[in-house]
Amino acid sequence: MRMRKKRHGNERLEALDALFLHSEGEIWTDVPSHFEKDQPLRIEIGCGKGGFIAGISKAQPEYNWLAVEKISDVMVCAVEKYAGDRGLGNLGYHGGWQAPDGTVYKDGQTWDIPMADRGNVRFTIGDAAEVLSHLPEGSVDAIYANFSDPWPKKGYADRRLTSPVFLKEYLRVLRPGGAFRFKTDNEVLFDYSLETIEASPFRMTFCTRDLHSSERAAENIMTEYERNFSEKGVLIKSLEAVKD
Ligand SMILES: C[S@@+](CC[C@H](N)C(=O)[O-])C[C@H]1O[C@@H](n2cnc3c(N)ncnc32)[C@H](O)[C@@H]1O
Repeated sequence: MRMRKKRHGNERLEALDALFLHSEGEIWTDVPSHFEKDQPLRIEIGCGKGGFIAGISKAQPEYNWLAVEKISDVMVCAVEKYAGDRGLGNLGYHGGWQAPDGTVYKDGQTWDIPMADRGNVRFTIGDAAEVLSHLPEGSVDAIYANFSDPWPKKGYADRRLTSPVFLKEYLRVLRPGGAFRFKTDNEVLFDYSLETIEASPFRMTFCTRDLHSSERAAENIMTEYERNFSEKGVLIKSLEAVKD
């Protein structure tokens, strides 16, 4: 995802830092303790501007959600969207983040958002491969990858989020019965993903080349890329694979 550099991007992230998990420290050995409720953990890899995580976390409050994004300027949009949707304030008129009580957090100040108001999403900036490597075996209920980069050159195939390297890591962190869910506009990446999943211990439980006409259309939460592609008439491909 290409984006112009966000003005005061770091400062804006600092203001909402209470919603973040950072990769340093012991944080990953006990992810549930960073949420208000002890409930199953689901992960979105490459959350982009955050439309999906904002929507699904609201639709499915019975899960804790971790949104992973490697580009910090993109993450600014995601966390601010989530915070805004949850009634946690808005961008300040003269910069910074304005909390509902009118306090503006800027110039590197962090708002210590009460745990009860943080909701069921935490964000982390980093590469998914690294984040997943910190997570204990069997600690994740489901993993979502939406419109991930296709990395068309063969030499970069390991970076595709459905490469055997990533699938192996998903199988490690997922609990038995846990699911991997994938959506894409890209036919070539989808065909590749069907092959890699077929060759893995995952069991395919859902597969369609036209998600919006499928039996899962009603429950589908659109991402920003998904909206763009479907407005152009591109059919959305989707699959679900379960770890037995
Ligand atoms: C094509 S965009 C799609 C964004 C969003 N999921 C959507 O559907 O609108 C892919 C996003 O995934 C992020 N991304 C790609 N590979 C990643 C990785 N290995 N770890 C974390 N984020 C990644 C990119 O920075 C980008 O923001």
